[in-house]
Amino acid sequence: MKLTLRPIPGRRLAEQLREAGVEFPCGGEGICGGCRVRVVSGQIPASGPMRLLLTEAELREGWRLACMAEAAGPVTVEVEQWSARVLTDETGTAVEPRRGRGVAIDLGTTTLVAQRVHLETGEIEAVETALNAQARFGADVMSRIQYELRHPGELTRVIREQLGAMLRRLAAGQPLAEVLLAGNTAMHHLFCGLDVTPLAGVPFLSPHSGARRFPPEQMPWRAPTLFLPCLGGFVGSDLLAGVVATRLDRKPDQQGLFDIGTNGEIVVASRKGLRCASTAAGPAFEGGRIRHGMRACEGAIDAVHIENGRLAAHVIGEAAPRGICGSGLVDAAAKALDLGLLLPNGRLIQNPLPLADGVELTQSDIRQLQLAKGAMAAGLKMLAREASRLRLAGAFGNYLHLGSARRIGLLPEDVEVEPAGNAALRGVRMLLLQPSSREERIGRILAMTEHVELAADPAFQDLFAESMRLEPFRFR
Ligand code: FES
Repeated sequence: MKLTLRPIPGRRLAEQLREAGVEFPCGGEGICGGCRVRVVSGQIPASGPMRLLLTEAELREGWRLACMAEAAGPVTVEVEQWSARVLTDETGTAVEPRRGRGVAIDLGTTTLVAQRVHLETGEIEAVETALNAQARFGADVMSRIQYELRHPGELTRVIREQLGAMLRRLAAGQPLAEVLLAGNTAMHHLFCGLDVTPLAGVPFLSPHSGARRFPPEQMPWRAPTLFLPCLGGFVGSDLLAGVVATRLDRKPDQQGLFDIGTNGEIVVASRKGLRCASTAAGPAFEGGRIRHGMRACEGAIDAVHIENGRLAAHVIGEAAPRGICGSGLVDAAAKALDLGLLLPNGRLIQNPLPLADGVELTQSDIRQLQLAKGAMAAGLKMLAREASRLRLAGAFGNYLHLGSARRIGLLPEDVEVEPAGNAALRGVRMLLLQPSSREERIGRILAMTEHVELAADPAFQDLFAESMRLEPFRFR
């Protein structure tokens, strides 16, 4: 997607790009390379930090860092982040017919998906996807919360305006009967306009995590709106909706649902009920704080194989490689371990390790991966030890190569693992289409769920340290 900007006296181009929605994953410090834009017309001079993070070939092709951008005249740029793939869901669900149209929304930290649904038939009539416009104020939930504390109400305005524009296009002039949303706890608070102070410090428990209803006059789309309740702590209504979609509340045996992202969320079912927890991974799985990290879009290495004893990269869109996304990173580490180019303690034998033309893996990238996967694996070890089957929710879980995830010790070797697609969106749609049993179902799930505070448990810290090693693990 392209963006044209003209110089404004006293304002840097970087500032304008940020305001226009370009996300600065490292906060604009010029160290992550995640804010790349390609100049289509006009000039952005290549400054020192750009020369460090971008190759000569990329500079020649017009790639620049948005966070360092200055320009004397008008410029048009292509924003790499805006072409990321967004996971949606079209699975059929049971319908309790009623008149009109409704909208189901999965409000993610990174991506948004909204579906217009025919409430009589359950048919999905239209879909809108976008990157979350709040992302320009920080890549992960913690940086958004910090921003909100400094600028109260700003992120609520941004997300409601963005969803307002999406729903205007979806509704196409027709009235909407109802809008239902799910998201993680930070997204819930930021959409609902709630005080995020309790989410900013230990024990990260907010008294405002319940369902929130808004009358039509309070929303830009003029329809009754319900944000589903969070499960507990940083485990949001995206996981509650995931429980609905995977029927985890109706399965007596040990099954788990695991959403791997900047914030990992886990919920596990047993005969006694559901237990849930969250664990902070940081942005590595989305390409953040990785030297050549980028979202999963054209030009990203999304898979790495071994060919003739060497690493061989697959690039999305069969294009020239421009960086590496989360699934590529996990693959690259797994294959480097196989070839002895990387040791289980995380030391790269060759640093940096070349993956494809101009794309390399550095020692610091491996450390970021170890932190992210260590937090995820430790959370699983705390909660899911008895699990016989794990479903992976969300985009990253859907594109991740399971063999590689097991090889680096992100997922257990002896548990059946299966992607669940966008379970959050499916669950929201199911609740939208079954209004009479909705309250009872949600109430039952909340009543049977126990939230476990991982960070407060010394055992978690030990498991986290142990799980930083890049080696397979088993539960039994
Ligand atoms: S935000 Fe520009 S390099 Fe990180």
